[in-house]
Amino acid sequence: MGPQRAISTTKDGARKPLLRALDGEAVSPIPWWLMRQAGRFLPEYRELRSKAQNFIDFCFDPKLACEATLQPLRRFGMDAVILFSDILVVPYALGQKVSFVEGEGPILAPLVSDLGLRELKIAGLSERLSPIFETVARVATSLPPVTALIGFAGGPWTVAVYMVEGKGGTDCSKIRNLFLTKPADGAALIGLLVQATAEYLVHQVRNGAEVIQIFDSWAGILSEEEFRRWIIAPTKQLVSLLRGECPGVPVIGFPRSAGVMYREYVQATGVDAIGLDSLVPVGWAARELQPLAAVQGNLDNQVLRVGGRQMETEARRIMRALAGGPFVFNLGHGVLPDTPPENVAALAKVLRAGA
Ligand code: CP3
Repeated sequence: MGPQRAISTTKDGARKPLLRALDGEAVSPIPWWLMRQAGRFLPEYRELRSKAQNFIDFCFDPKLACEATLQPLRRFGMDAVILFSDILVVPYALGQKVSFVEGEGPILAPLVSDLGLRELKIAGLSERLSPIFETVARVATSLPPVTALIGFAGGPWTVAVYMVEGKGGTDCSKIRNLFLTKPADGAALIGLLVQATAEYLVHQVRNGAEVIQIFDSWAGILSEEEFRRWIIAPTKQLVSLLRGECPGVPVIGFPRSAGVMYREYVQATGVDAIGLDSLVPVGWAARELQPLAAVQGNLDNQVLRVGGRQMETEARRIMRALAGGPFVFNLGHGVLPDTPPENVAALAKVLRAGA
């Protein structure tokens, strides 16, 4: 057991349930956490958020970010917390202008050509991101012994989408056009993001993150060959750079909406676990993916928002299909801001009772 795994051990020697599942064990009760579990659906988050001028300041304030990380745990007792930060702090720390507009989401000064690329600065990156590592260290020392700490970053492709499009919710025609007409520029941007993201993740682990999740939320818009080039190859490189510095740290890949490419992604990137969006049939995942890696997912976030018997039945169906192998219960995408917190409490009860 290396030093990385040592911090994952509780006092009596039993490892944290999330880490056991990521290591390939079928754990009961099923470990769970929810993507975007810290955030606007919690009234205590909204109150905390009002203390910072803007969202970037909030992410770079270790005291506030540590508190936001811990809030969902206090209410619901998940098996893991996820660092409170955002995937867009990487372009911000590279020198791109990033802001979050209330009600609109992130706005970035879009990269237009190789000129924009040359202005991005990787030197000094971890110094500029150091408040986030301080948050990780603070959270690590405040957790109960059974709770795991998940660090994260965006996948290089998904971060590049925001950097080139300048905002979310577009049809991605700017980045598709750039990568199709100037693939060398695309490769340079992705290469820079692989380096920056690896450095960012290594520092998270050194400060106490025990698991890393890579969010590739925009993986689902690429054709087969593009998926190999812009998702699989950079993720494989990122995972191997991370493992080179932090051997043994479990990695969860989440190439959202990858469809049948999920299988090749798992095999080729070497991730320990695979996050499934809600469109993935659980029986297929049990047969095709679970023998290769732990699986995580995939309750529909709209079903959680509606709640009630329908949600409970659906959660049990997912559990029954996947509980026979290594499995972590989660959503297929993040908690929606208008989700009643009581629905998450009801979900917790169902999960603890088992399938
Ligand atoms: O609880 C957690 O999951 C930890 C914190 C976290 C945030 N963003 C906080 C946040 C995590 C893991 C993310 C990941 C993230 N950020 C992704 C990947 C996951 C996904 O949802 O697809 C992406 C694409 C982003 C970029 C981003 N950040 C967008 C598009 C937006 C606006 C839309 C939205 O959901 O608000 C954000 C803002 C953001 N990130 C908020 C939070 C809590 C809301 C801003 C606020 O509170 O003022």
